[in-house]
Amino acid sequence: MTQSNFKKNILCIGAGYVGGPTMTVIANKCPEYKVTIVDISKERIAAWNSDRLPIFEPGLEERVLKVRGKNLFFSTDIDTCINQADIIFVSVNTPTKNFGEGAGKAVDLQFIEQTARRIKENSSSNKIVVEKSTLPVRAAETLDTILHSGNNKIQFEILSNPEFMAEGTGIRDMEFPDRVLIGSKDTPTGLAARQELIDLYSHWVPEKNLITTNLWSSELSKLVSNAFLAQRISSINSIAAICEATEADVTEVSNAVGRDSRIGAKFLNAGPGFGGSCFRKDILNLVYLSEYYQLNEVASFWEQVVSLNDYQMERYVKRILQAMFNTLVDKKLAVLGFAFKPDTGDTRDAPAIYICKRLLEEKACLRITDPHALENARKDLQGIDDNNVEYIIDPYKAAEGVHGIALITDWAEYSQLDYQKIFDKMEKPAFIFDGRNHLNHRELFDIGFNVYAVGKAPLTHI
Ligand code: UDX
Ligand code: ADP
Repeated sequence: MTQSNFKKNILCIGAGYVGGPTMTVIANKCPEYKVTIVDISKERIAAWNSDRLPIFEPGLEERVLKVRGKNLFFSTDIDTCINQADIIFVSVNTPTKNFGEGAGKAVDLQFIEQTARRIKENSSSNKIVVEKSTLPVRAAETLDTILHSGNNKIQFEILSNPEFMAEGTGIRDMEFPDRVLIGSKDTPTGLAARQELIDLYSHWVPEKNLITTNLWSSELSKLVSNAFLAQRISSINSIAAICEATEADVTEVSNAVGRDSRIGAKFLNAGPGFGGSCFRKDILNLVYLSEYYQLNEVASFWEQVVSLNDYQMERYVKRILQAMFNTLVDKKLAVLGFAFKPDTGDTRDAPAIYICKRLLEEKACLRITDPHALENARKDLQGIDDNNVEYIIDPYKAAEGVHGIALITDWAEYSQLDYQKIFDKMEKPAFIFDGRNHLNHRELFDIGFNVYAVGKAPLTHI
């Protein structure tokens, strides 16, 4: 079954933000395994095979170039690749359902189900199927049922192996993971399949970082990790609101609180709200699960993390509006950063989408700049007041002649800009709304800006 000289054939279905970088690292670390990534999107596969990869992730390109065509392949021939594979990672998208039962909370499982059926139809040998996408708890059961339905004699062993990569640091997170989680059934075939994944990861992950659990614990741990991280952000953002009202400083508070080793310093940066494809989706999934089991208090506890995030984005908009004399009509605003965080071009669920839409509703004219996310920004805002939005790669040009600057993504280069030069070419009074506490506020104030930072008292000349 195994082709040519490779020890194993690994297949990944779904060539996205998860599948692409994960498989690139596996191919780099395991030269004796053939790794193939397939996708229904011809354009995506063509991009992976070109000089311009479909996603931006630090360290990704050089690792792709090192192994592409050697033991890493990108293909659209899904059916043949399924048949040749020993281990299949399922990495297709699992968005929140936007229709019918569970709309707005439950995961839309149509892509997973299509994939399961396709695996079943095209397999003529036993296979290990690994859930890589984040799935609702007990989704492995559904996969198992579909794969073993009908007269199928083929054995499929399902494993759960959630990813914990964060975008922008995805390669590092995959190469030096805090932990790799492998969930399996506690049966001889389940444990044998689990051992295959352990063998794969043992190429570079120390044994102490490999955690094995049952399937449901693995699926739930993924949701809970993201829920806990998001909950920390909502917690500090709620405190930012108190700081703005009381003149305490949220950076000082988060530093003081985070120094308690029981709490820790990470994920305590106040901002315009969390974004990205995971946090909101995974918490809502947890809420849905809790409601399903009639754990209504649990559901409302986690739902509050999302509500607070919505409140935080709206608060950022209201602060701009109030500071700029309660009207934004025809005022020009430069938006610094559109990606949901720096070092990625990804804008899925980015706070910038909500914030820009609201600013446009207030009839502001936006000049959006971002080093990697302008293409996605254009798609996200398409059809929404197109005449009042410009996309400008050069931040100096974006800020020329504007009344205010809204920093939404903390790209490193934004702290290095010449703000005196920017101030000189702005309308006066000049405002800056640092949504990430990324800039030197005292310096900006001394230049002449009216400075509004998250969770801090404003520094104003008016
Ligand atoms: C997250 C998890 O971190 C990762 O383990 C999981 O596999 C996928 O989801 P990601 O969404 O890529 O990763 O980015 P993350 O770094 O977690 O940031 C998420 C959002 O929270 C971003 O919008 C970021 O700006 C925001 N954030 C993060 C804050 O507002 N404050 C913080 O202190 C940290
Ligand atoms: P993630 O962040 O989870 O990786 P992405 O949207 O970036 O999500 O990637 C998921 C990929 O899965 C997309 O490129 C999409 O085209 C692909 N995909 C979705 N359904 C299927 C399917 N049935 N077969 C193959 N690929 C699929």
